[in-house]
Amino acid sequence: EFSPLTDTFGRYHTYLRISLTERCNLRCQYCMPAEGVKLTQKNNLLTTDEVIQLARLFVKEGVTKIRLTGGEPTVRKDLVDIIASLKAINGLQAVAITTNGLVLTRQLVSLQRAGLDILNISLDTLKPDRYEHITRRKGWERVMMGIDLALQLGYDPVKVNCVIMKGFNDDEICDFVKLTETKKVDIRFIEYMPFTGNKWEMQKMVPYQEMVKTIRNSWPGFHPLENGPNDTSKAWRVPGYAGQVGFITSMSEHFCGGCNRLRITADGNLKVCLFGNTEVSLRDALRAGCSEDDLTALIAAAVRRKKKQHAGMLNLSHMENRPMILIGG
Ligand code: GTP
Ligand code: 5AD
Ligand code: SF4
Repeated sequence: EFSPLTDTFGRYHTYLRISLTERCNLRCQYCMPAEGVKLTQKNNLLTTDEVIQLARLFVKEGVTKIRLTGGEPTVRKDLVDIIASLKAINGLQAVAITTNGLVLTRQLVSLQRAGLDILNISLDTLKPDRYEHITRRKGWERVMMGIDLALQLGYDPVKVNCVIMKGFNDDEICDFVKLTETKKVDIRFIEYMPFTGNKWEMQKMVPYQEMVKTIRNSWPGFHPLENGPNDTSKAWRVPGYAGQVGFITSMSEHFCGGCNRLRITADGNLKVCLFGNTEVSLRDALRAGCSEDDLTALIAAAVRRKKKQHAGMLNLSHMENRPMILIGG
């Protein structure tokens, strides 16, 4: 059956990631260059109304899960209103955010009250001084408190994203696994990916199989679990532990075959893949007064230009793309 959200490889895209801002209160090295990035003029960013209007259209065509990203989504002042408006859309099953966790102790109760269903928190180290080095800011304690608050408020599981980089935090893999002994967290180790301006090097990437080997050295019983057809991560567990461990293997074993994800950037482009530059401006179409049918046709055409796969080692580091901060993961 034809849907505007189905591509030429039969992938039906039911998961939309919307970037709400290009700003962030951290400066992570793997995400943006030290000098920062050139920000889009405010009037060229999607307004709250435009975000909701687009969300409605995508849900009408079949999207069931929307994740809000950034930059850092919690720096957007109207995040609570956006979540509440999204939750009012019929047919949308889940609203999620991916956050650096810095302000959760202040905001999570309101976000949950607005209807936030799922939250993923990024944390790359368990050492405060190292945190300051990678993020170029302070705040490790606040993130840890944010994770605990999320658990207390009933988020289950709380996913923690951890980008592993050789010589930087690969010595903490087992410490992160140990966290899953008592905490119901899902620690997801992410292979370091290349984006414009992040100085990616192959030698800094720790492949999935190597991480598994490291963990099995300490926990021989560490074993894989079943995965859903569209999961970004491969799930594993230490027997008897409360939480689990996952691996996001974009580089060594891509999962493009099960991709169900589309992205809208803060400046209003539909981006059909995390990698590459197949984009089309939905903002311009909206502002030109396009009819809903024309907008849907524009989306369908972009989705049909989606490639079979992009992730993987080959040539990704030379591919034309945005810096991660302007994509949102
Ligand atoms: P869940 O829906 O909770 O499983 O989260 P998610 O993995 O979809 O989203 P999250 O924002 O937590 O992203 C975690 C990591 O997965 C980030 O490094 C993303 O860049 C990466 N990721 C998310 N979606 C894709 C994708 O479609 N392709 C690739 N290659 N990586 C992705
Ligand atoms: N490689 C892998 N993951 C990355 N993220 C940001 N930059 C990179 C990169 N270069 C992760 C963040 C966040 C998620 C949205 O993407 O840590 O958890
Ligand atoms: Fe989907 Fe592109 Fe990610 Fe592959 S690299 S899973 S096609 S977004």
